[in-house]
Amino acid sequence: MTKSTQEPTKICCLGAGYVGGPTMAMIAHKCPEIDVHVVDLNPDRIAQWNSEKLPVYEPGLYDVVKQARGRNLRFTTDVPGAIREANMCFISVNTPTKTFGIGAGRAANLEFVEKCARTIAENSDSDKVVVEKSTLPVRTAESVKRILSSHSAKVKFDVLSNPEFLAEGTAMEDLRDPDRILIGGDSSAAIEKLADVYKNWVPNDKIIRTNLWSSELSKLTANAFLAQRVSSINAISALCEATGADVDEVAGAIGTDSRIGPKFLKASVGFGGSCFQKDILNLVYLCEHFGLPEVAQYWEQVVKMNDYQKYRFSTRIVKKMFNTVSNKKIAIWGFAFKKDTNDTRESAAIYVCRDLLEERAKLTIYDPKVDIDQIRRDLAYLIAGPNGELTEVQKELLQTHVTVAKSAEEAADGAHAIALMTEWDEFKDADFDSIYQSMMKPAFVFDGRNVLDSQKLSGIGFDIESIGKA
Ligand code: NAD
Ligand code: UGA
Repeated sequence: MTKSTQEPTKICCLGAGYVGGPTMAMIAHKCPEIDVHVVDLNPDRIAQWNSEKLPVYEPGLYDVVKQARGRNLRFTTDVPGAIREANMCFISVNTPTKTFGIGAGRAANLEFVEKCARTIAENSDSDKVVVEKSTLPVRTAESVKRILSSHSAKVKFDVLSNPEFLAEGTAMEDLRDPDRILIGGDSSAAIEKLADVYKNWVPNDKIIRTNLWSSELSKLTANAFLAQRVSSINAISALCEATGADVDEVAGAIGTDSRIGPKFLKASVGFGGSCFQKDILNLVYLCEHFGLPEVAQYWEQVVKMNDYQKYRFSTRIVKKMFNTVSNKKIAIWGFAFKKDTNDTRESAAIYVCRDLLEERAKLTIYDPKVDIDQIRRDLAYLIAGPNGELTEVQKELLQTHVTVAKSAEEAADGAHAIALMTEWDEFKDADFDSIYQSMMKPAFVFDGRNVLDSQKLSGIGFDIESIGKA
């Protein structure tokens, strides 16, 4: 490893969310000589990062934070101070889908990124490398550069794109041993300065250097390809249910082809998470913007298939339960968008709960890591729709038809059905004999993740429905 002769790197990261927090914690952990300041405008979030209960649940995260916090890792709301001290600023803020104006429902809302660029420019009196860590539409770096350079001619900014590929639930493993690090830029000195940070623990041959636009576009493309695989197998799951084929067997059979590979072929109730949908819609918007409607339609279908899969699951529950779930208790097992995270953004569970509430089902929800307030907020937000207002009937439904349980067993007690929405490990090990005794009969189980032993459950007496199995 070559030692750099430049001044020591000092990092400031704007945005202490699911990416900023874990990513910076790993850099601080692996590079004890680098000062890392993580800043956020939200004082509650910063207070949580400085507490025993971090705002992000991620296996292994707390240990890494605890080791570095107070040594070379700091969480603070002093955004200007941290920028002034740093010579490398990461922008790791949220880039949600726009809900208003031009491109509403598709384009990325870049107001937070632009605000960061302006704040960095206003608080810089020395040269800095500015790193886009957020997922951004291709050519955003152009705007970031313009904002930065229009502020002061004396300070030089180099803009790099360094998208993050971690997945929630495995973030620490992904950060510790990434498949690759991608750095896009047009200054090789700046690229190597950032590469030097990663080289503290990532082999150089895993660090890919590209131009800015390739890097920005690769991130959107990676998420689009991953989501496309899930939608592809979910599309096949519908055909499996109609024909008697078993989607897990089909996935196993095609996944052994080394050209296809076994990963991301798990049929499910539909993908969730804060990024797949938003990033594909962003890609769709970009294609339309650049006059490529056929390409836009091709990718949009991945999201449409996902919407269909979620709706198909809700409909199947209603149909199997004799076409009515009105006032029937249904246990919802899991609310997070996947296991090992407390993140519920775009979770399929929210959509299925919304559909079942429309049918007047009584829901009892249990998730080991998602708190009651979050569940209520998510449901109210989705049910209210675009105007944000809840009708009296909707308010009443949320009051009388949604309860939150402290365990999977409690949720299932007296229920007509269990809908398994998140593949938490504890669900596989539940005591199904006693759960069966406590439920109404026929006792239905709708396994939205194909993680339960359907033969065993059928043997107990359950009426079990899995994804992609007739
Ligand atoms: P997040 O919402 O969890 O965190 C973003 C944080 O930025 C929030 O705490 C917010 O208060 C803060 N913020 C907003 N404006 C700010 C400003 N001007 N100054 C300081 N802080 C500000 O979002 P996230 O999940 O961490 O995602 C961040 C970006 O990373 C997005 O572009 C996302 O697409 C991308 N990404 C996310 C993941 C993931 O697993 N969540 C993975 C890879 C990439
Ligand atoms: C995804 C990507 O995997 C990351 O590389 C990327 O950095 C990140 O998005 C991002 O940009 O935010 P994440 O959304 O955290 O990560 O989690 P995934 O493991 O990709 O799962 C996404 C959704 O797809 C989950 O709801 C998951 O349950 C579902 N999924 C995944 C399936 O239904 N089947 C599969 O085979 C795989």
